[in-house]
Amino acid sequence: RKDVGRISTGSTAVDELIGGGIETQSITEVFGEFGSGKSQISHELAVTIQLPEDKGGLEGECVFIDTENTFRPERIEQISNYFELDHEETLNKIHIARAFNSSHQILMAEKVNELIQSGTNIRLIIVDSLMAHFRAEYIGRESLATRQQKLNQHLHTLQNIATTYNVAIFLTNQVQARPDAFFGSPTKAIGGHVLGHASTYRVWLKKGLAGKRIARLVDSPHLPEGECVFKITSDGVVD
Ligand code: GTP
Repeated sequence: RKDVGRISTGSTAVDELIGGGIETQSITEVFGEFGSGKSQISHELAVTIQLPEDKGGLEGECVFIDTENTFRPERIEQISNYFELDHEETLNKIHIARAFNSSHQILMAEKVNELIQSGTNIRLIIVDSLMAHFRAEYIGRESLATRQQKLNQHLHTLQNIATTYNVAIFLTNQVQARPDAFFGSPTKAIGGHVLGHASTYRVWLKKGLAGKRIARLVDSPHLPEGECVFKITSDGVVD
């Protein structure tokens, strides 16, 4: 694949684990229990995407689809200070889309096409969290097929934008402590059909000792399984 770009997570160890940062034209999914760092990595990427290439970014802007009201401008300010960026400017390049329900979330993703066509240099779409609305709205076995169909549609939209405009997709997904006990990762569950030719990276985040976090790469067709440690500090995501 031509011109694949990479965006730093803030941690060199995590970047190396996933082959040099999250990729454009691909979907990267992080999953883990509450407080494992999913939203923190989302905030970090919203800033690092704006950095020049030699600093781990693509000098691009991003769309942050926020489904649970987790976006915190103060956190962006802290992280941009760390990278010596102007935080107002940094915030202006993060296009926040608050999604009130799953249909709205699907629509928000579709709208990114228009934003890009109007000339905005979007290189990253963050969905934090992918499943919250779907899980709350489609309850019980009988609604499972509909849920998967809607989710399919949503992922398909995101995948299309990724390949058409060379954009990276970053999804967060809250699961129980043991991911195999969970119904399944959305990308894994339906990945085979939907995600087509683009590769998908899945990273399991766990809480470690003394405020440390563990990232484990799972089910990656191209990269070895492995794990690494990172930290979340006032500077953001670090080694
Ligand atoms: P849920 O949103 O609950 O699903 O979890 P999550 O995985 O998204 O967790 P999140 O990324 O919000 O990580 C929460 C953890 O990040 C907290 O327990 C803190 O350890 C750390 N954290 C969050 N904000 C800050 C901050 O401003 N400064 C510092 N030093 N740490 C923070």
